[in-house]
Amino acid sequence: MSDSVLTVRDLEVTHAVTGQSVVRQVSFEVVRGRVLGIVGESGSGKTVTVRAVLGILPDILEVTGGAIEVLGRPTSEFTKKDWIACRGSVIGAVFQDPGSYLNPSIRLGKQVEEVLRVKKGLSRAEARAETLRLFRAVHLRNPELVHQQYAHELSGGMLQRVLIAIAISLGPDILIADEATTALDVTVQAEILDLLVELKEAEGLSLVVISHDLAVVAQLCDDVVVMRDGEIVEAGPARAVLRHPQHEYTRLLISEHERFGLDRYFEQDASLQRKAAS
Ligand SMILES: Nc1ncnc2c1ncn2[C@@H]1O[C@H](COP(=O)(O)OP(=O)(O)O)[C@@H](O)[C@H]1O
Ligand SMILES: [Mg+2]
Repeated sequence: MSDSVLTVRDLEVTHAVTGQSVVRQVSFEVVRGRVLGIVGESGSGKTVTVRAVLGILPDILEVTGGAIEVLGRPTSEFTKKDWIACRGSVIGAVFQDPGSYLNPSIRLGKQVEEVLRVKKGLSRAEARAETLRLFRAVHLRNPELVHQQYAHELSGGMLQRVLIAIAISLGPDILIADEATTALDVTVQAEILDLLVELKEAEGLSLVVISHDLAVVAQLCDDVVVMRDGEIVEAGPARAVLRHPQHEYTRLLISEHERFGLDRYFEQDASLQRKAAS
């Protein structure tokens, strides 16, 4: 067996009231040190899938079939305590709209320190030092200043860096980025994607990158899963799938992106790898 950190097998999610199937027969594997992309148009079930993986589905949606294994342990056996231990420490996640995940009236540094004190049992001084280290690791230019600031004082890109700092603060094996750059300017978006790749190398993370944007997937991912209407229509190595799509829906997604030139991203990706190797 490969070195799988997360295995999803025949996942099925159902609407508890209407009985409507939301996600079905979704299977994929996240291999240690690799980047998996989940792509598909809005409403195709990407977020529901990763929320099921994180154990944070809205009450109205239920896992009604299949299995999820995190580091070889089936999450169906998880107690509340296991979930709390898993989130953050094994799987970190960042979403769109980083501002909504931060408390507007508490200084940013304090919010990160709180996570470290509660979850890692660090002292006040240790938590402060670690917070500044994390802020540097996500390339916040002035860590000491950001530490003292409030969420409204930062740009969207900087807030997402703070959220990424929190997401990696407990040293997870997996980082899930669900449309994490969608709301950002194109330049900032590219910077955040670069950061994710850098952290993957530096912290030995496996990444799950969810996007409706194929260019993001082409730029970042080793493997890709294409979803439509709650199902996987195609999956495989990102290059193979994007260069030789087998499914009509994938071809359609790619043709919509053709005008941006996906090849550009493959080249960028190759240059990043050269940079990492040198
Ligand atoms: N909170 C919710 N309550 C009811 N249905 C939901 C909820 N969230 C998502 N769904 C259903 O799941 C489908 C997939 O949603 P989602 O996973 O958010 O799509 P994506 O992330 O691919 O844009 C939606 O089209 C909707 O039918
Ligand atoms: Mg979504």
